[in-house]
Amino acid sequence: MAKKKGRLDFIKMKEAHEQVAWVTAYDFPTAQFAEAAGMDMILVGDSLGMCVLGYQGTIPVTMADCISHCQSVRRGAPNTFCVGDMPFGSYQITNAEAVANAARFLKEADMDAIKLEGGLRTAGALKAIADAGILAMGHIGLTPQSSGPLGGFKAQGLDPDSARFVIEDALAVQSAGAYALLVEAVPPELCSFIAKKLTIPVYSIGAGGPCDGQLLISSDMIGMFQSFTPKFVKVYAHVGEEITNAFKEYVNDVHTGAFPTDEYCYHIRKGMEEEYSQMLKEYE
Ligand code: KIV
Repeated sequence: MAKKKGRLDFIKMKEAHEQVAWVTAYDFPTAQFAEAAGMDMILVGDSLGMCVLGYQGTIPVTMADCISHCQSVRRGAPNTFCVGDMPFGSYQITNAEAVANAARFLKEADMDAIKLEGGLRTAGALKAIADAGILAMGHIGLTPQSSGPLGGFKAQGLDPDSARFVIEDALAVQSAGAYALLVEAVPPELCSFIAKKLTIPVYSIGAGGPCDGQLLISSDMIGMFQSFTPKFVKVYAHVGEEITNAFKEYVNDVHTGAFPTDEYCYHIRKGMEEEYSQMLKEYE
């Protein structure tokens, strides 16, 4: 079994230009599959709101939801570096509350780090969390929790003025003491510029390469999330289709009596068949 990676391994990987591969996971089996596949890192994203809980976005996701899913993931991937995603409202109110909530991910769910969205505007909370000795990752570019103010799930940094904001956010995240940065849905030129400019690892989701690694949402890349698939997702499997087909076949088998056949049944102890049917008769 591969040794669990830590912050210093990720810095060494950046220095050696080795790419980190990571996905989101929200539950025990997916975490087991990710660890078995040799994933360098796992994010327990608040995208669980859409991918697992069926919300339209991430805003309704609570600390309780995140902690519970982080706990399942940790049980499934005990040897993988896991990042817990701070939900909307858990780090915006006061820095003290942000630190207390970040600490819950470590104490209650054994996460290795936390992630929070925003650059300049959340740098205060990020600094407070990092100062408390918690590994904190920033997340800039398209930040789903603020898709409202951003005008939807839209790519960012497409023109020079907007790219300048993304760069300022990246610099603010590093200055605040983050150990890593995730950049979402910006042009590859911008993400790789940021990865070269910063000394901390910079990961892309929908921001091309090269940078220091790639993240995808597992439900998107295995075809489990059906509502929409962002442009930047490469779909590696069609699990949703497989499940629907399996369920259809089962419905048909049950309706037609093709399931269950004898092989799927427990059998009366050998030699007790007669006694058994006598006993049943007593209840007729
Ligand atoms: O919650 C999540 O999965 C995320 C990704 C969109 C990066 O934050």
